[in-house]
Amino acid sequence: MADPLHTIAHTLRDAFAAVTGLPAAEIDPVVRPSPRADAQANGALALAKQLDRNPRELAEAVVATGALASVCSAVEVAGPGFINLTFTARFLAEQLAAAAADPHLGVRPAEVVETAVVDYSAPNVAKEMHVGHLRTTVIGDALVRMLEFVGHTVVRENHVGDWGTPFGMLIEHVVDLGGVGETDLSDPGGFYKQARAKFDASDEFKARARERVTLLQGRDDDSTMAIWQQLVDQSADYFDIVYGRLGVLLRRNDIVGESFYQPYMPAMLARLETAGLLAESDGAKVVWVPGFTNREGEPLPLIVQARTGGFNYATSDLTCVIDRVERLHATLLVYVVGTPQSQHLQMVFEAARMLGVLVPPARAVHVNFGNVLGDDRKMLKSRSGEPAMLLDLVDGAIARGRAAVAERNTDLDEVERAELGAVIGIGALKYAELSSDRIKDYVFDWDRMLAFDGNTAPYLQYAHARICSIFRRADVDRASVRAVVPTLDEPQERALALQLLQFDAAVHDTLDKFSPHRLCTHLFDVAQAFTSFYEACPVLKDGYEATRESRLALCDLTARVLQLGLALLGIDVPERM
Ligand code: ARG
Repeated sequence: MADPLHTIAHTLRDAFAAVTGLPAAEIDPVVRPSPRADAQANGALALAKQLDRNPRELAEAVVATGALASVCSAVEVAGPGFINLTFTARFLAEQLAAAAADPHLGVRPAEVVETAVVDYSAPNVAKEMHVGHLRTTVIGDALVRMLEFVGHTVVRENHVGDWGTPFGMLIEHVVDLGGVGETDLSDPGGFYKQARAKFDASDEFKARARERVTLLQGRDDDSTMAIWQQLVDQSADYFDIVYGRLGVLLRRNDIVGESFYQPYMPAMLARLETAGLLAESDGAKVVWVPGFTNREGEPLPLIVQARTGGFNYATSDLTCVIDRVERLHATLLVYVVGTPQSQHLQMVFEAARMLGVLVPPARAVHVNFGNVLGDDRKMLKSRSGEPAMLLDLVDGAIARGRAAVAERNTDLDEVERAELGAVIGIGALKYAELSSDRIKDYVFDWDRMLAFDGNTAPYLQYAHARICSIFRRADVDRASVRAVVPTLDEPQERALALQLLQFDAAVHDTLDKFSPHRLCTHLFDVAQAFTSFYEACPVLKDGYEATRESRLALCDLTARVLQLGLALLGIDVPERM
């Protein structure tokens, strides 16, 4: 266990148990980093309340057990009953060495290993991916990487919109163009718009589109199914181009679209029926989910079968929950979907609970997010006034990354520069997304995300590259300093050590809240602590031979934390910049 706060929390828990007689498992000593000391424990306050005791006396009794003496150089009871802790340099150094010896750099594996399904990206077939898909794709991918890293079995699912009434007009449009083989979906947006325009303009086309939907739902008209399959395949090609360029893990075999659930829907409805949950409202089949009302305050039903007999978005999502729990045996269902779909998802989850499917340990989490805004504080648009296209943003990021590299005049050759530019540009785009609190809207700003100072990817990437260059100059192999137990005499060395040791807490905190910006903030703190250390503590300078190995060890661990932390966010780090 390399996180000193975690180690201390354990020690304190036992001490509180000894003093109060409560079982250790019921005690939370609430240990946090603190500006007053290395850490502060506030647990005495809640415990004292629970036991009707004086919190200061309780804190003092815990200190008097002497349990902290071996790892703290100072322990002080302050205020109403806080315990301020200052760690010994030796304890910190040993924890650092333990982290350095661990490929996970001290990040503890999950206590309970689960199967998690992460539902993210979810674009629609035969439509372009736009700015709305940026957040779900980037956040979902980071969560996938982190969940896997702490030991969970993760199933990526791309719940693409590949079914439903729009396919009538899309298929009919393919027929008009000359059938399978004659369409080109490299511009899916244009294709969709052409179909839509015909649908709006011609009653004859509209009628054909409606008939085609019926044929599609029957699933047994070969030419209809062939055209549908072609649209799905061509879209998957296009999605793969976007995912590849953006550097996310999703690929076509992660697609489990809405169409996949269609065959299971009648059985799902039958289960609702058997459970007595299926009701009728205005001719539609619905589930009355308690606690949900419309604007007029009337109870809101979850419609699972329209009056016409058709299935809808709720039908597929409810069927999908059953699939994830019962076929995939997932206990953690993560939905990375925008805030506007919150009510829909909560109703689906509640219906699945009522059905007895989504019951502990299985649970669902809506990882919601706000909008990406332009300067005008409205949904980010392209020049033509439509939502900005995702591929344009990705290519814009790569171009700007390359320009930044060209400006910095490095001694790299053409190929290296192009690669570095993409790493910087894509890193900047993803990090801007991940570092802002997902719940809030954020304003998209190329200059800010590509800046080499501030809480940006280029700043963190540069900190990493700078450390690599220290080792190149010293001509020292990085692995050779990994067994060194550093001395931590200077305050900046201590401060850096404390930051490095909180990597574990940052990763777990991020996963507890499904909020990647927490890990970003931590990495930024690490990079800043490194900058202060590097300014105050010479590493390679003549006259500092005695501290050289120790400081190189701090440099190496810093670079590893930055590299691993960014990798967990889906961001690469260069060795030179
Ligand atoms: N395809 C949907 C859209 O573009 C998002 C689907 C989200 N995932 C889900 N299971 N409902 O709005």
